[in-house]
Amino acid sequence: MSEPSSPLEEIIVVAVDGPAGSGKSTVARAVAARLGLSYLDTGAMYRSVAHAALCEDIDTEDGERMAELARRLRIEVGEQVLVDGVDCTRAIRSSEVTRAVTAAAANPQVRAEMVRRQRLWVQDRGGGVVEGRDIGTVVFPDARLKVFLTASPEERARRRAAEAGDAVATDITRRDQADSSRAHSPLATAEDAVTIDTTERTVDDVVDEITGLLAQRQLPGKGW
Ligand code: CDP
Repeated sequence: MSEPSSPLEEIIVVAVDGPAGSGKSTVARAVAARLGLSYLDTGAMYRSVAHAALCEDIDTEDGERMAELARRLRIEVGEQVLVDGVDCTRAIRSSEVTRAVTAAAANPQVRAEMVRRQRLWVQDRGGGVVEGRDIGTVVFPDARLKVFLTASPEERARRRAAEAGDAVATDITRRDQADSSRAHSPLATAEDAVTIDTTERTVDDVVDEITGLLAQRQLPGKGW
């Protein structure tokens, strides 16, 4: 591990977890912009591994080859997603990748490598808003604030259909089930997370709530 560029007590991590369509990406990005923090979409990292597996014709159930792939790939997640320098921003959102990502994300060696990179990413930036499925439970158990976003199943399906079409909307039920029941780092609410139901709430309203919660937790020396 490289040396952190900021002392730990100055590092603010906001962990945003939740199922597909709960509003994670939109809310996490807006919280980061409001607070002047960096934003990391960890789902894009798992999608990048799944996408590369499809490109290289690697069976996503092949644990060892997937682990080797995850360790070897250069993944840069920002406004664009670059995998070994190639712009895969759109490609990682395809329905093929959405199907393949479940097996990639269930692989404990792939997860270990992604978690290691996510921690380095935060250390290098001195904090950030990190969005995913296991951020509050596994990646940053000492995050300054943990938020678990939910929304009604109808609302989540509606948001996905608006974004990407009905095929993707119906897929969220399968992924929720797989993400919540897998053996390694399943989607779960951290004990100390604040659950926010985003159904029928505006993005601004949810962002206000999260920044308000964070303001209450600005305790010096609390870590992460
Ligand atoms: O945006 P959407 O909810 O469709 O999914 P995503 O955040 O892009 O994540 C895609 C998949 O990656 C999820 O269904 C999980 O299987 C996996 N994932 C994970 O296991 N852990 C994370 N921290 C983030 C994503």
